[in-house]
Amino acid sequence: MNYKNDFPMLNKDIVYFDNGATTLKPKVVMDAIYDYYSNYSSNAHRGDYKISLKASSEYENVREKVKEFINANSKDEIVFTSGSTESLNMIVNGYFKYNLSKDDEVLTTKSEHASNILPWYELENEIGIKVKYIPLTENHYVTLENVIKSITNKTKVISIAHVTNVIGDVRPIKEIIQYAHKNNILVVIDGAQSVGHTKVDVQKLDIDFLAFSAHKMLGPTGVGVLYGKYDLLDSIRPIKYGGGMNVSFTNPKEIEYKPLPYKLEAGTQNIADVIGFGKAIDYINNVGIDNIEEYCNQLKEYIVNKLKNIKHINIYNENVEGSTIAFNVDGVFAQDTAIYLDKYNICVRSGSHCAKKLEDELGIKNTCRISIYFYNTTKDADRLIQALDNDKILEESLGV
Ligand code: ALA
Repeated sequence: MNYKNDFPMLNKDIVYFDNGATTLKPKVVMDAIYDYYSNYSSNAHRGDYKISLKASSEYENVREKVKEFINANSKDEIVFTSGSTESLNMIVNGYFKYNLSKDDEVLTTKSEHASNILPWYELENEIGIKVKYIPLTENHYVTLENVIKSITNKTKVISIAHVTNVIGDVRPIKEIIQYAHKNNILVVIDGAQSVGHTKVDVQKLDIDFLAFSAHKMLGPTGVGVLYGKYDLLDSIRPIKYGGGMNVSFTNPKEIEYKPLPYKLEAGTQNIADVIGFGKAIDYINNVGIDNIEEYCNQLKEYIVNKLKNIKHINIYNENVEGSTIAFNVDGVFAQDTAIYLDKYNICVRSGSHCAKKLEDELGIKNTCRISIYFYNTTKDADRLIQALDNDKILEESLGV
């Protein structure tokens, strides 16, 4: 398919392979935001006049769309946040802070993004829980076997990404969750890199808490989702208090908060961008999430097979299915490679990619990351490969 008519950014002389950081946005998303600001700009859930009622219903329609997209049981289990980071912080600081005790163990991995490690570290500092790491295989995978080996009678939570942001490995979360639940362990899934790439059915997978971001799945920045099973979500203490989330208050002892999801959405929400997010979900549904997954896997394989033959390229996740290729050019600092590629208008990310513990696993701090989405083409891939299959890149080494 040719997506050029739909994505203004695809008409620029740019090859965009940084979709793990944020995806491009189709015009329908921008149009929806423009339409809201131009035609019914008003607050939601607060006005008794037509345009405010429209803003409220458009906003709530998106909640319904998200519910359908991840197959939640109820739209009340969908809370809009500013992104995965805020969602994960709400889970840790609003729920686990009050439901874990000193020496309780949280299992995670060294390939997690900062937003799934730092809130837990802070909780360790604050209440004395212990953050432990599931050992990864040689290829940096998580296996059920290693999860089982890591569980002790103190393990209360497993908090892992469904798909990691550097290696891009897809974790066997269904099996992990089944095993965890048999042992009374809750599971938090960071879905930032998965929800726009593969079908995530929260009921089928039996996920307890899920966090994801709109901007990594065609939507605007500044919007994310916190999903939780109703009773768990209902036990989260709000981190923000204010308008829109209370029914009444007279004094500190007489406060009534609204039910879910509103009690976790204090203040004026990001109405425009939530409405834009709805169009992103429609777009993904039209393309088909299974088609997206299949296409990204194929394009990754295409790129890997070519890069493998370039002698100065080192790939760290060759065998991983998915959308991400982590690599380095021998003797060239990752950021220099990214800057070199930028000369050809090719965008890749370099550095630690916010996964700073991954260094312990890879034995290297910085990598370049090619991250693919469904609008990338083999033509984009060829341009990237041509730029990398060029001795000029070796001159980028600071030592040459
Ligand atoms: N988490 C984003 C990434 O992986 C920003 O690049």
